Amino acid sequence: MGFAAQVRELTRADHRAAQNVTYFDALLSGQLDRAGYAALLEQLHVVYQTIEEAAEAMREDPVAGPFVVDELHRLPRIEDDLRFLNGPDWATRIAPSHATRQYQERLREVAFTWPAGFVAHHYTRYMGDLSGGQVMVRAVRRTFGLDTDGVRFFLFPDLDAKDFKQHYRELLDTAPWDEVERQRFLDEVSWAYRLNTEMIAELGRDVVRGSAA
Ligand code: HEM
Repeated sequence: MGFAAQVRELTRADHRAAQNVTYFDALLSGQLDRAGYAALLEQLHVVYQTIEEAAEAMREDPVAGPFVVDELHRLPRIEDDLRFLNGPDWATRIAPSHATRQYQERLREVAFTWPAGFVAHHYTRYMGDLSGGQVMVRAVRRTFGLDTDGVRFFLFPDLDAKDFKQHYRELLDTAPWDEVERQRFLDEVSWAYRLNTEMIAELGRDVVRGSAA
């Protein structure tokens, strides 16, 4: 089994935990209001701002650099969505939650200086966006009657998702990491899943109750 397949197998439980949060249930079953949906993008703005800053720091790195692909970048798309959903003062509404601040702190600790740490966080977000994100966008479009504006975050118009994921798995399979570094990478992916799970769980506590009221 190649390393990419191992990563997927060994983090299956982490993925399941990340999926099983109230917020996604509500989002996927059309129970959130627009503000509840925008709240996800507000937290993700903080995450992607930091990951995409790290990407600039890693662009020339021989191992992490090939993972830095401009067509993946989500920040300008999140900003377009938030402008559309929240209006011109969208930026003033961004307030990282406790969990989001912890996520950002971890990114600052590992993703700017440790190539495999950067890739671990990059993998967890972008491979997720290219996979589960494509399930989510259907629910969001249906619930809010959106087509492109407001859901640009989920769209990758300049990439073929299937081919790109294949290419990504080849990059993981051929990254020159020994067993120790592979294990450290796996631990960081698990950590990244947990940080996402916490962020989404906190959103659920803040938003789902608010929407149901
Ligand atoms: C309700 C929420 C979610 C759904 C419905 C979902 C669904 C999926 C699906 C269908 C796949 C594709 C598996 C395949 O290619 O066969 C996938 C892969 C993936 N998801 Fe999720 N997901 C969700 C949440 C998340 C979250 C919160 C994260 C982390 C931020 C995440 C990260 C990933 C990653 C990294 C992969 C790629 C695994 C690999 O092929 O190596 N997902 N997801």
